[in-house]
Amino acid sequence: MKSNTEKFGKTPHQSSLWTRADALKVRADDPTTTQPLVSADFPVLSNEVFIWDTMPLRDLDGNVTSVDGWSVIFTLTADRHPNDPEYIDENGNYDITRDWNDRHGRAKMYYWFSRTGKDWKLGGRVMAEGVSPTAREWAGTPILLNDQGEVDLYYTAVTPGATIVKVRGRVVTTEHGVSMVGFEKVKPLFEADGKMYQTEAQNSFWGFRDPWPFRDPKDGKLYMLFEGNVAGERGSHKVGEAEIGDVPPGYENVGNSRFQTACVGIAVARDADGDDWEMLPPLLTAVGVNDQTERPHFVFQDGKYYLFTISHTFTYADGVTGPDGVYGFVADSLFGPYVPLNGSGLVLGNPSSQPFQTYSHYVMPNGLVTSFIDSVPTDATGTQIRIGGTEAPTVGMKIKGQQTFVVAEYDYGYIPPMLDVTLK
Ligand code: FRU
Repeated sequence: MKSNTEKFGKTPHQSSLWTRADALKVRADDPTTTQPLVSADFPVLSNEVFIWDTMPLRDLDGNVTSVDGWSVIFTLTADRHPNDPEYIDENGNYDITRDWNDRHGRAKMYYWFSRTGKDWKLGGRVMAEGVSPTAREWAGTPILLNDQGEVDLYYTAVTPGATIVKVRGRVVTTEHGVSMVGFEKVKPLFEADGKMYQTEAQNSFWGFRDPWPFRDPKDGKLYMLFEGNVAGERGSHKVGEAEIGDVPPGYENVGNSRFQTACVGIAVARDADGDDWEMLPPLLTAVGVNDQTERPHFVFQDGKYYLFTISHTFTYADGVTGPDGVYGFVADSLFGPYVPLNGSGLVLGNPSSQPFQTYSHYVMPNGLVTSFIDSVPTDATGTQIRIGGTEAPTVGMKIKGQQTFVVAEYDYGYIPPMLDVTLK
């Protein structure tokens, strides 16, 4: 593989590789890296809407922040259609599975608030219909900028295309609740360039989304993580010695793994406000290993950079596999080199008896991990399922050096603030 310097000229770093050898170490059902079973009798946040990706309001350093004592989360959200003829099956029953599976096409950003860090109350849509330039409002990050309540919502405007955008508004509180006001002008920031990050023209299954801006605790500059795929025509990628890693005899065959090309992207802001960005080469690539490294985010702890990203069983390449869940990597400096946590990268996976129970895990700096419930089996064979579309029980995790350990389980959707900002 060509180095970044050969490919792109002078750049600050080499991408770290999640190799096939690393992924061969993934062990589903290790209790220290497996999410406790989610019971099928979970409560739902709302009978009107499905929610999935959950984005706690935070500051640029990653701290989950409440305002005037109110916790706030943003969620990808879509209406449920229990009475819509389009989702009634031939027996006259609501086909909730199909409704749920179609949700990505009508995803919108909503917000919720709470006094207790759980039992969320629906605030409503963040942007009025027609404000966002595309059909789908996909995941991103709400940042509380100051004690005036200004909020920058970074997110992904999808279909047509996939553009990382931001919209500035304000959070307003009363003693009765929270509202989001003034999210009216969406500013496009950047799209995949085809040189570092794969474009739709290069691969119609490309991924380019999920911005996560942050201030580097060491250099103080404003950066952004995002999900991408490594640039190049679909099928043209090489899975060579570097991508394979140190595998045992008999594991050299890479099959069709050249089609799996996920990466964690990074961009640096050219201005203090984060209106002008320059994409840099990926921090981490997973060519030959996995096709999706979604919603990348950091926890900064003990002077180290803990990089987390969610991924699926179905996006793994030929010859490697692992559960749906969150994976992680650690480095001593922002640009790496990153090594997989727990040897393999697996941090918190679904148990194999309930492979789709949760997804879209978000690791907070206090070690709590939030996720949503996707589907939970309701019979022993796993043929009957209950669809979630709601918050999963929060998991408590310890991060120690290059290892992580599941240590606790909390209530559904428990996302307590790490600091409170009193608005002026
Ligand atoms: C993760 C995800 C994100 C994307 C969103 C689309 O669950 O795939 O990467 O922004 O869901 O619904």
